[in-house]
Amino acid sequence: MNRIAIHADLLDFDAEPTLDDPRSGAVRWRPDHWLLIEQERIEAIQADPPGEDWQRIDHRGRWLMPGFIDTHVHSPQIDVIASWGTELLDWLETYTFPAEARHADPAFAAAGAATFLDALLAHGTTSAAVFPTVHAASAEALFAGAQQRGMRLLTGKVLMDRHAPENLRDDVAGARAECERLIERWHGRGRNAYAVTPRFAATSSPEQLAMAGQLVQRHAGVYMQTHVAENRAEVAWVAKLFPEARSYLDVYARHWLLGSRSILAHGIWLDDEDRTRLRDAGAQIAFCPSSNLFLGSGLFGWREARERGMTVSLASDVGGGTSLSMLRTMADGYKVQAMAGTRLSAWALLHTATRGAAQALGLGHEIGTLAPGMLADLCVWAPAVGAVARHRDALARELHERVFAWVTLGDERNLIETWVAGRRLFSHASA
Ligand code: GUN
Ligand code: ZN
Repeated sequence: MNRIAIHADLLDFDAEPTLDDPRSGAVRWRPDHWLLIEQERIEAIQADPPGEDWQRIDHRGRWLMPGFIDTHVHSPQIDVIASWGTELLDWLETYTFPAEARHADPAFAAAGAATFLDALLAHGTTSAAVFPTVHAASAEALFAGAQQRGMRLLTGKVLMDRHAPENLRDDVAGARAECERLIERWHGRGRNAYAVTPRFAATSSPEQLAMAGQLVQRHAGVYMQTHVAENRAEVAWVAKLFPEARSYLDVYARHWLLGSRSILAHGIWLDDEDRTRLRDAGAQIAFCPSSNLFLGSGLFGWREARERGMTVSLASDVGGGTSLSMLRTMADGYKVQAMAGTRLSAWALLHTATRGAAQALGLGHEIGTLAPGMLADLCVWAPAVGAVARHRDALARELHERVFAWVTLGDERNLIETWVAGRRLFSHASA
């Protein structure tokens, strides 16, 4: 029987911190504790060592946290991460579409999915909402790979029936049939959930968006993921394509695509009416700071979102984003918000990438915190790697200062181990 006890400094949250208070009481810091795993779940958390029948793992001085949740990332785009010189629409044409076309080959898609999922784990991300490609086989490969690893994954074939190269276009009837088949086969199997995935308003006809809305309405529990209001040229194009819509967001609302399981990436160019609408729907915006900086898309207004009661999660958006590391994503998030005068606390950032995302996805009972009964999706982190980070860590006077330095200076090199549902799937030692 799998009975494992990890000895470490435990860090998670039992409430939502405000955006900018380093002294927030929401953080739960349990130094020098034992986290007990039985089979796939957390059995107990205690200050005293367990009995001899528990296999002990010594990570004293290291931080044990819930695995990160990346709410928006594109699996095939690790092939084009760090591509030079374009904004969104050019970037799609020049780099992304050609790369995605290669996933028409199921063997290529399967190999790509495996590489991608292992890369997530090697960056400390144990759950994700993922865009594969328009090919059903690419979604199939992600679902199968996630099931093999025991990971919590949300994905679904990308819908795209116009304004894309011929070899990346589907059609309404064919796409509906493929989605139905994938939902039947994978939704709720293992820890997989289906996400209806219209790429963005510009690449789906009104008929396809209507079909996507029907899928969401007819299949209880499926998610919906897309992009919204990322780039100014994109926003202008969508306004031309859908002149009847009040705003870009309204295109999705009109097609019944906004609900509590909707994840919309970016949301930079929204207005207050859009924000209120997102709040009322219970939908979330996935803030993708690294991508927004790299593609020059704009600065997302987290404070305005918060003031309207909107839910915000944090995402890498690789390959528009330049790292799968949620630490780097947080550090970029801090800098983007600093441009608008908001100084996010390490707690706000870390909460958003763990408990906050779990709750926003309706998965707070399963992931995002360290508590008995939760699935054991965990990461062990070194607080500091390298001479400068170690120097800075040694000078830090209190926990927030240490964790903020870790967020700002750290990345996947700080990761020691990743556990998924009670199994150690990544170890720094064997990397
Ligand atoms: N909008 C439509 N497709 C994409 C994509 O692949 N990446 C980003 N960042 N934005 C998009
Ligand atoms: Zn994206």
